[in-house]
Amino acid sequence: MQQLARVGEDIAYAENLLRAGEVIAIPTETVYGLAGNALDENAVVKIFEIKNRPLFNPLIVHTYALEAIAGLVAPLTAPAKALADAFWPGPLTLLVPKREGLSDLLTAGHPSVAIRIPQHPMTLDLLKRLDFPLAAPSANPFGYISPTTSRHVQEQLGDLIPYILDGGPCTIGLESTIVSLLKGSKPQVLRLGGISLEDIEAVVGPVELIRNAGRPEAPGMLSSHYAPRTPLKILPDNFSWEYADTAHVAYLGYQTLSSRIPAERQVLLSPTGDLREAAKNLFLALHLLDKLAVKEIWAELLPEIGLGRAINDRLRRAAVK
Ligand code: TXA
Ligand code: MG
Repeated sequence: MQQLARVGEDIAYAENLLRAGEVIAIPTETVYGLAGNALDENAVVKIFEIKNRPLFNPLIVHTYALEAIAGLVAPLTAPAKALADAFWPGPLTLLVPKREGLSDLLTAGHPSVAIRIPQHPMTLDLLKRLDFPLAAPSANPFGYISPTTSRHVQEQLGDLIPYILDGGPCTIGLESTIVSLLKGSKPQVLRLGGISLEDIEAVVGPVELIRNAGRPEAPGMLSSHYAPRTPLKILPDNFSWEYADTAHVAYLGYQTLSSRIPAERQVLLSPTGDLREAAKNLFLALHLLDKLAVKEIWAELLPEIGLGRAINDRLRRAAVK
């Protein structure tokens, strides 16, 4: 086993490792990414290996500016451009037709590629120094909770990578919203994320939300995902605590603690009912609760609006076994 990754803020060091074909962890505003040279098949293979990710699940290409990847993707259509102008840099991923030069490994054989300009000053600086874009899935083992701190990465993949570029806790805390503008005129949202459906629709009009799961077009949307090791159960709306056996249970609530479980086994996502704060806390909370010696984590769903929808999506996927 390799020793644990170095953790630091040394952008030049990160740059050198990436230039040498290494795979490292980088901070973004959504979650930490496991990054390598998107144009180097060996680096891309390493990403799949480290994550233990099935090869049918394609990767997102990160850049600091569209011009930097102009030769690799088709020019943006008008609605894609409108979304890019509204939300980049930021938690939006667009599916666009790819050109030669991007390997099938990267896109899992799809004729389209997912691209994103992340909003993190260190990672934007790093991308500007490089003469290639970075392929980066979330820096967690396949199927497990996404990392929102360098410590999460260290705990999950620290023995498999040389360096974690530490940019502090992620400010959004949920993965990017993925929008496809490939099919017909109506945009499709393939993954709910850091930008709400309402905000997307304000820019491009009505979108279609593709709910499921394991289909070839959206292989990463497997129904079981983002899951803690402890089984997670979602409480029904009309749940009655009265006769519930809470002896070995931890609770993930939105605003209000349960009177039936000791406080040290509970986490609230946002006592003031702020969905942004809840999004930022979600994966942190799941990591924390997963470390308690309990048999089950019980979770409450949030209001099905704005970022609440993306949070509920993650909770439902975490609950599938
Ligand atoms: O916020 C994020 O998007 C983070 C940070 C690191 O940027 N990245 C991330 O990557 O969440 P990952 O690999 O965990 O999720 C990428 C999703 C997967 O569900 C994958 O199937 C989908 O994007 N995807 C990527 N390329 C695609 C393509 N060409 N067609 C369809 N889906 C694609
Ligand atoms: Mg992921």
